[in-house]
Amino acid sequence: MNKTLAVFGWIFFGLIMGVGLMRFISTHQELDELATETARPERTADGRIALYYTAEDRMHISDEMLGFLQGLQTISGAIAEEDRETIRDAAGALRRGNGQGQAVQLKSPEGFRVLGRSLRQDFGTMSDMAMTADMDELQLVVSDAMGKCVACHGSYKAVEVEDPAAD
Ligand code: HEC
Repeated sequence: MNKTLAVFGWIFFGLIMGVGLMRFISTHQELDELATETARPERTADGRIALYYTAEDRMHISDEMLGFLQGLQTISGAIAEEDRETIRDAAGALRRGNGQGQAVQLKSPEGFRVLGRSLRQDFGTMSDMAMTADMDELQLVVSDAMGKCVACHGSYKAVEVEDPAAD
């Protein structure tokens, strides 16, 4: 009699534990899913620091970047041809942003901003040196500038998010 009760007891206990455990696991899974949907991890899967930008921010960055790439192409051609005016003008045009990058600047970490500013300064230096410096000196400044492209792209990655104001 006691034995039968004990068996029932264990079955009862097992049932409660089983259900309880299942409920615990499913809640846990739901929480995990919720976290991955809403959280903004500090790093992307490849280990770079994630920067959360809206589609509009990304468009602005892309425009600037394509301007950098095009400018560097013009400048490296002009160095080969010793065309000083072109170096001065192309680098001078990249000395400053167009002033529309405020939102991006505010959302970006200090390291990102420093790299961006330093790159702008390199373009300024190129422009200032263009009429007088040796071409290999100019080439060295170009190389310095490109080091900043590499550094930023290696450290940071843009991740698109919805604009909270659009909701
Ligand atoms: C301070 C950080 C930073 C620096 C410095 C930087 N970039 Fe970028 N670049 C970015 C980010 C962030 C993106 C990704 C934008 C996106 O996809 O939303 C990007 C994207 C690009 C793209 C892809 C643009 C597109 O949408 O097709 C090019 C090309 C590029 N960069 C070129 C350059 C060049 C050339 C330099 C150096 C002269 C440079 N970048 C310097 C941060 C930087």
